[in-house]
Amino acid sequence: MEPGAVAVLATAPEVARNSDSDYPYRHDSYFYYLTGFMEPEAVLVLVAGRGDTPARSILFCREKHAEREIWDGFRYGPAAAKDSFGFDEAYPIGELDAQMARLLADVPALYYAQASNAALDAQVAGWLKAVRAQSRSGVNAPTRTQHLLALLDEMRVLKDESEQALMLRSATIAGAAHVRAMRAARPGMFEYELEAELLYEFRRSGAQFPAYTPIVASGANACVLHYSANNAQTLDGDLVLIDAGCEFDSYASDITRTFPVNGRFSEPQQLLYELVLRAQEAALAAVVPGRPYGGVHEAALNVLAEGMLDLGLLDRARYGSVENVLAERAYTTFYMHGTGHWLGLDVHDTGSYRDLSLEGKPSRLLVPGMALTVEPGIYVRPGPDVPERFWNIGIRIEDDVIVGDAGARVLSGSAPKTVRDIETLMAER
Ligand code: GLY
Ligand code: MN
Ligand code: MN
Repeated sequence: MEPGAVAVLATAPEVARNSDSDYPYRHDSYFYYLTGFMEPEAVLVLVAGRGDTPARSILFCREKHAEREIWDGFRYGPAAAKDSFGFDEAYPIGELDAQMARLLADVPALYYAQASNAALDAQVAGWLKAVRAQSRSGVNAPTRTQHLLALLDEMRVLKDESEQALMLRSATIAGAAHVRAMRAARPGMFEYELEAELLYEFRRSGAQFPAYTPIVASGANACVLHYSANNAQTLDGDLVLIDAGCEFDSYASDITRTFPVNGRFSEPQQLLYELVLRAQEAALAAVVPGRPYGGVHEAALNVLAEGMLDLGLLDRARYGSVENVLAERAYTTFYMHGTGHWLGLDVHDTGSYRDLSLEGKPSRLLVPGMALTVEPGIYVRPGPDVPERFWNIGIRIEDDVIVGDAGARVLSGSAPKTVRDIETLMAER
C-alpha cells in the first residue's frame, strides 16, 4: 500500500442454520491471517505509515456484555483485544461508521474486499460519501479504491514456520483418522459409520472442524468426485475412497486414501491402485523448488496415460503413444481433475497458479514454503470399450506437502498408502 493508504477487512458473519441455531462459527481466513482474532462482528483497519506518522492497526470488535457473556461466553471487548493481540487501537464495532469517516479523511487510497459482498460495498460507499461531505472543510476523500484480497492472496501462498507446524499437526491428526477408519472397516458397514470414526479422531485430537465435508465413497460411489451422501452400505469386495481432512487451529489438511473394505485388494483393484500410486510418486518427485507448479500434474499424467494404455483402458491401436493420449486429452475419461491445489487456512487455498507477470502467464515456479496437495486418481465408469474388470473402481491418493529446499516434505505420511502397508494394517484388525 502507498503511504497513508487505508485497508479495511471484516471477518465472516454469523450464519443462521434454522430458527435459533447458527452454523458453527468460522472466522474469515484473511481476517484471521492478519489478526489471529476469532470473534464475529470484527473489522480490521490498517493505516500505512506516511512521513513521520507510523503505520497503525485498529480493531473494531464487540463490546464486553455481561448478559450475553452468560449465554454465549467470553468476549474480549476492545481494551483486552488491543492488549492481547497487539493492535495499536481498538474500538466498539458500533463506532465503525463514524470512525471511518474520520480515518478516511485525506487518505490517497482505500483497499478493501471489493465486490465480494454487496453489504460491504454499500457500507464503503456510505463512508466515502461521508468523507466527501466534509470537502468544504478542506478534507479530501480517497480517489482510488483497490482490491485488498489480491495482495493477501499472494502473502498467504508462503507458509512461515509456525503455519507449517500447524499444518503438520492438522495432517497428522487427519492421517490418524484415516488409520482409524481403516482399522474400523468391515464389509457391511455403512459409509457414515466410517465417517463417524474420522470425526471422532479429529475431535478427540483437538481439531476444531472437518476442513470440508468428508467423502466416504464405497464401490461405484468412488467414481463420483464430490460424493458426500455417505449413506451406502459397503459390500465385501468394495474399495472405499475416503477424502477427509480436519482444521486444526484454522489450518486445513486434505488427505485421501483408498482401501479394500475387507482388507485385501482384488487383482484389478491392485493394478489400478498401484498405477495411481506410481503417478503420485512421480508427482511428488516433481515437487522441487525452481520447477513449475504445472510439472506436478504433468508428471502424474505421464504415468497415468502410460498405465491406461498398458491396462487396456485406452486402446493402444487407437492412440499409439502416451504423447497422443496427452495431446488428445484421452485420459480425461478416467482422470478429470487436477493433481492438486494450494493448501492452508482454506482447503483450496489462495494464490495464483500462474506467473501473471510473464508473457503467456506460464505456470509459476515452486518456492520453499509453498503448501500443496498431490492427489492423482483414476475413476472407471462402465462403458462399451472399458474392460469390465475395472468397472466402478474409483481410486485417489492424496497427500499434503510443503515445498522444502530439497523437495517435497510430506506432512500426511502417517496414513499408509502402499498395498502392503494397507493390507498389513487391516490384517491386524
Ligand atoms: N477434498 C477436496 C479436494 O481434494 O480438493
Ligand atoms: Mn481431498
Ligand atoms: Mn485436495
